[in-house]
Amino acid sequence: AANTDGTDGTADAIPTSKGTLTGGFTILSEKKLFLGQKLTVLQGDLVKISADAIVHPTNETFYMGGEVGQTLQKAGGKEFQQEVKNIHTSNGNLDTAGAVICPGRNFPAKYVIHVNSPSWGSQNAQQMLEKTVKNVLTLADEKNLKSIALPSISSGNAGFPKQTAAQIILRAISNYFVTVMSSSLKQVYFVLFDMESISIYTSELAKLDS
Ligand code: APR
Repeated sequence: AANTDGTDGTADAIPTSKGTLTGGFTILSEKKLFLGQKLTVLQGDLVKISADAIVHPTNETFYMGGEVGQTLQKAGGKEFQQEVKNIHTSNGNLDTAGAVICPGRNFPAKYVIHVNSPSWGSQNAQQMLEKTVKNVLTLADEKNLKSIALPSISSGNAGFPKQTAAQIILRAISNYFVTVMSSSLKQVYFVLFDMESISIYTSELAKLDS
């Protein structure tokens, strides 16, 4: 899968009727989910977001070579790398779609939820992506988190088409709150970064999602 996303790595704000958040985030859409949670689709850099947790798509050995992983590694420095080593040691390898949490360091999020994101073309890849999102939200609830930010898991290094990944993730987020009795989560951010995801979301997915 390609490692480049066609952008220059900066998150320029697209002006929308929804306006711009502080810190260079642009809100693409906002809606209430089944249990009253707010789902906000944002354009920007996940690593800069202030949330209880952000999601790091990785492989079974917690490799930080994915697109989000590289940015996290740069921002988090040695302290964060040590946290990742610690969680790998205590948890062992990550199953596909598995999720584990460790403290964040040197960036605004308090925690990082590492997921072993399925690769496009692997067995049951789409169902595994759905399961990954469910596992992320379940773990966030176990930890009593109030806010979480997810990138478009599997649509970078792991090779999913951008539209397919965004569709599955949005549906899985929405379904999760229909199936649980209660949740500590109040705010879910879905953070889009590359121009292709943003334009697909703006032209196609926002309609489906409304
Ligand atoms: N903020 C938000 N989203 C970002 C950022 C950022 N700073 N940088 C990149 N993205 C987007 C990418 O454009 C892509 O759409 O995040 C999405 C996911 O990309 P990756 O981080 O590469 O995740 P994934 O596709 O799941 O690949 C992870 O990389 O760690 C290796 O091999 C390992 O299987 C694992 C894979």
